[in-house]
Amino acid sequence: MPKQTQIAVVGSGYVGLVAAVCFAEMGHNVICVDNDERKVSALQGGDTLIHEIYLPELLQRYRNTKVRFMTDLAEATRECEAIFIAVGTPQSETGDADLSYVEAVACEIARSITSYKVIVEKSTVPVYTNEWIRRAIERNGVARDMFDVVSNPEFLREGTAVSDFLHPDRIVVGADSDRAAAVLREIYAPLTSGEYYTKEDAIPGPCGVNAAPPLLNTSTKSAEIIKHASNAFLAVKISFINAVSNLCEATDANVEQVAIGMGLDARIGPRFLRPGIGYGGSCFPKDVAAFRSVADQLGVDFSLLSEVEKINGQQKKRFLNKVRTALWTLRGKKLGVLGLSFKGETDDIRESPAIELVEMLLAEGCSVKAFDPAAMERTAERLPAGPNLEYVESSYAAADDADALLILTDWAEFAKLDLKRLNTALRYPIVIDGRNLYDPHAMVEHGMTYISVGRPTAN
Ligand code: UGA
Repeated sequence: MPKQTQIAVVGSGYVGLVAAVCFAEMGHNVICVDNDERKVSALQGGDTLIHEIYLPELLQRYRNTKVRFMTDLAEATRECEAIFIAVGTPQSETGDADLSYVEAVACEIARSITSYKVIVEKSTVPVYTNEWIRRAIERNGVARDMFDVVSNPEFLREGTAVSDFLHPDRIVVGADSDRAAAVLREIYAPLTSGEYYTKEDAIPGPCGVNAAPPLLNTSTKSAEIIKHASNAFLAVKISFINAVSNLCEATDANVEQVAIGMGLDARIGPRFLRPGIGYGGSCFPKDVAAFRSVADQLGVDFSLLSEVEKINGQQKKRFLNKVRTALWTLRGKKLGVLGLSFKGETDDIRESPAIELVEMLLAEGCSVKAFDPAAMERTAERLPAGPNLEYVESSYAAADDADALLILTDWAEFAKLDLKRLNTALRYPIVIDGRNLYDPHAMVEHGMTYISVGRPTAN
């Protein structure tokens, strides 16, 4: 039986909370620390605070037993052997990652170290952060042989976070000490040995694959760069296919066919080749900017990333132009909007291209009736309802009497709407789909004028 490790996770955001319950699911004992008392008591009471499949079940299973929530980092440090730092690294005004939360946590941990600890960077951080954490701890009087700092980046996606955590493609452990690497190997042993996947009630993987993941040992700096480079590369892929989709629109080619044809080449792969309205979320925009900034500071020309950001911004404007082209003028037009979160199956609205588009449409004088299965409450805090903006209870209510319906987020339920009912609800049967959720021919058969991304209109 693999060893149970006492683990502290600092930060109860998407990464921290998911890591905490998943480590418990893997058999470890976990203390999840957050300095926000309200969050801690909500979590103790079983409220997950975020919309994420499997999280409520796991929280229910382990809260106050194998996962305890508290605000006291000193106590957690004393009790645990491995301390994962999973606090936010928001974008600063210059585009760099703001590491002040990481530094504050490192200093606080340092003040409570009385026996050997492995401190693990789980947050996305720029290269050299590991060294800064080490120096901060040493400056607080801790002897070098009392701790190690390891980089163990996380690759989970929102919306499939729990499955991704427990079924990773790879586990990266950047460690410059054998002792620390061994602790991490033990923590992940239930996954790397494949033992977890034989459990009857194991959480299923995102694609149903249950293969044991490889664990890659690297230097700390390589691990830090792997995380930034992976996110930046995925952003490159998305901007690339968005640029190709524009070329397809100019030539009446079909980007879906192009993406399939490209993706069948094993060197390219089919994933992350879906064109749309540009990537958003709390990771890609921030991480591309931070990686570019790291390169700048090191005197490395990575202007490719500036182009990626440029294409991403243009993609939203192109979508706005599609609405304009379909409706002629925008002032006074009534629009139904499906989707506000930055992608489907999450209530996260950070850097959501859908919300940016709603803001642009409101600025053009449109009125909007919006529906999202999980993100309306959060959106209303940022963009309160008013004379031109209403939040409604269903997709059909959003379509009701609208001059056009816009699909802005790829929620699975938006791909299964009753098209007859939608057509009846709309004032004009125009659907402008920024996520390619429908077959253009099926839409035309249902009497719709259907405009999507990089695919010829079937009308
Ligand atoms: C992303 C990475 O995929 C994770 O591996 C990483 O761990 C995470 O960032 C992070 O650094 O924490 P996430 O932001 O949750 O995960 O969501 P993605 O599924 O990657 O989507 C990001 C954006 O790209 C969304 O706006 C999505 O709609 C868009 N996207 C994605 C496309 O436009 N086309 C695609 O083919 C794929």
